[in-house]
Amino acid sequence: MSFPIHRLRRLRQNAPLRHLVRETRLSVDQLIYPLFVMHGKSGKAEISSMPGQYRLTIPELLKETAEAHRLGISAVILFGIPKVKDEVGSEGYDPDGIVQQAIRAIKDQTPELLVITDVCIDEYTSHGHCGIVKNGKILNDETIDLLARMALTHAEAGADIVAPSDMMDGRVGAIRMALDESGFEDMPILAYAAKYASCFYAPFRDAADSTPQFGDRKSYQMDPANRLEALREVALDIDEGADMIMVKPALPYLDIIREIRDRIDLPIAAYQVSGEYSMIKAAALKGWIDEDRTILESHLCIKRAGADIILSYFAKDVARMLRAGT
Ligand code: PBG
Repeated sequence: MSFPIHRLRRLRQNAPLRHLVRETRLSVDQLIYPLFVMHGKSGKAEISSMPGQYRLTIPELLKETAEAHRLGISAVILFGIPKVKDEVGSEGYDPDGIVQQAIRAIKDQTPELLVITDVCIDEYTSHGHCGIVKNGKILNDETIDLLARMALTHAEAGADIVAPSDMMDGRVGAIRMALDESGFEDMPILAYAAKYASCFYAPFRDAADSTPQFGDRKSYQMDPANRLEALREVALDIDEGADMIMVKPALPYLDIIREIRDRIDLPIAAYQVSGEYSMIKAAALKGWIDEDRTILESHLCIKRAGADIILSYFAKDVARMLRAGT
């Protein structure tokens, strides 16, 4: 392989040639669009740290889901903002909680759109932690009972997939058992398996008002320094019954995505989280980068690393660009 016999620029000469030999492609039906839903009869409120993203009342949510479906997006993932938060995150597993209402409304309007739910109590607890707190400690086993209960209320409301994001040990198994016992043995679990204790979630916590009131999430989310531990997390979740696994955040963790891809044969999802979204948005608003091209490149790189599915606040933008043949 040497010059001048070989010239790699031969295949880069024009767009059709480049497209012919492209190794990675984005596809609209592998995008999951995250949405925040709140109580109220009408209206929406922009999230100040996530320009272009909103807390939506159900009527506004239905406009978004209808549009996402029209654009060819297969799935949405829902996050709820409750009326009241309490110590044990009660609204999270209330059969008439905001997410449960939202699931029913979406399935009523657009039954073909997949509805995924985030199973975690942090949006619903007054202290903002993903588990039950006792004497400053986040309890594991007590929390997974509640998560199983929460997943069941989502299933009963008509959700298609549940996605536990809490990082308690044993929660996938507990959820699988609770679902199976109630006749939901066909409901898939998308496990947030390698979820890091990341500062890139800050805008989300602003959106969901879920910043921990004391301490941090390092006793349950993973240390950003760890790679091997991610493989153990993934293996455990698969043993417990996960059907798909997730890596989160995405761009700073492409090596983790690749490592998992090389070892397991389950579908892998990657979450381009709120902070990744807001960094691109902020730089674009300042005119420092080209927003559309940065969006496409970042998503393409997540795919190239080995993700099949991408959760992204830019899902609609990507869908539009793909449709326009960008
Ligand atoms: C927990 C959850 C979080 C995100 C998704 N699920 C917040 C957290 O762990 O603090 C973050 C998503 C994002 O930053 O976009 N329910």
